[in-house]
Amino acid sequence: MSENLFDLTGQVAVVTGTSRGLGQYFARALARAGADLVLTSRNRETLAPFEAEIRALGRRSVALDLDVRSHESIQRFAAEAEAAYGQIHILVNNAGCNIRKPALDVSWEDWNTILETNLRGTFFVAQAVARSMIQHGYGRIINIGSVTSVFGYAGLAPYGASRGGVKQMTMSLADDWGKHGVTVNCLAPGWFKTEQNRVMYEDEGWVQYLCERIPVKRPGQPDDLDGAVVFLASEASRYITGQTLLVDGGITTGSTRATVAKK
Ligand SMILES: NC(=O)c1ccc[n+]([C@@H]2O[C@H](COP(=O)([O-])OP(=O)(O)OC[C@H]3O[C@@H](n4cnc5c(N)ncnc54)[C@H](OP(=O)(O)O)[C@@H]3O)[C@@H](O)[C@H]2O)c1
Repeated sequence: MSENLFDLTGQVAVVTGTSRGLGQYFARALARAGADLVLTSRNRETLAPFEAEIRALGRRSVALDLDVRSHESIQRFAAEAEAAYGQIHILVNNAGCNIRKPALDVSWEDWNTILETNLRGTFFVAQAVARSMIQHGYGRIINIGSVTSVFGYAGLAPYGASRGGVKQMTMSLADDWGKHGVTVNCLAPGWFKTEQNRVMYEDEGWVQYLCERIPVKRPGQPDDLDGAVVFLASEASRYITGQTLLVDGGITTGSTRATVAKK
């Protein structure tokens, strides 16, 4: 074992949903820590520039097609990932989507899109990759949650249901697979500016409102998540499983909400 608890040299990490946003930051952080990568998108051709960036860091990289709403696509992706490297050590279950709407406007299709992507997709990707991890007796699975895993927000009922489900499912999977050397944790980002929520960040009033409620007084920068993802992927977290690590500038402490309520 390396003396550096955070060294991922020689390990292979799958990060789903790496065509943009947080997935690229997770992949970059893991590559900088030494890991080789599997990158995914529903259209892998879009991954070419990012693949080149990972290779420029001196790591191997394979780009695969993956639609987490398709069981067949998940099975094919898992087989291709294993065939490419022989062993997968780390999975960051990042692919996800959101549709913000008042609860009364949420359609049947909206609900299915969000739950099938964020909850069902996260489960079946974990299951497909864990089959191979269990054979090797080692694995680190990091499911991406959200502050909505633990807090309710208007306009985010289906999304919150999916992220609360991811948190709960993480505990069950940790209980199931711990005996096989596979840890399962949930990394729950707070409010980060990415393509998924670009429109909200264009509203300066909303950004100010948000910052007033975050104890560290700013939204998350995607690289604020680097340390947490490397930690959960590495030897440093070997006795931690079934947990949800909130990286949110403290917004879920509730203290600032209480202060606002008293005014
Ligand atoms: N941004 C935040 O503040 C925040 C906070 C908490 C949690 N999260 C979660 O963190 C993850 C990344 O967020 P983000 O803001 O980076 O989102 P984003 O910019 O919208 O990127 C989403 C990624 O997921 C992939 N994806 C979407 N639907 C998919 C499907 N059916 N099958 C496979 N891949 C799919 C997309 O790839 P393709 O379109 O190329 O297939 C894309 O790479 C999401 O799960 C999100 O819910 C985000």
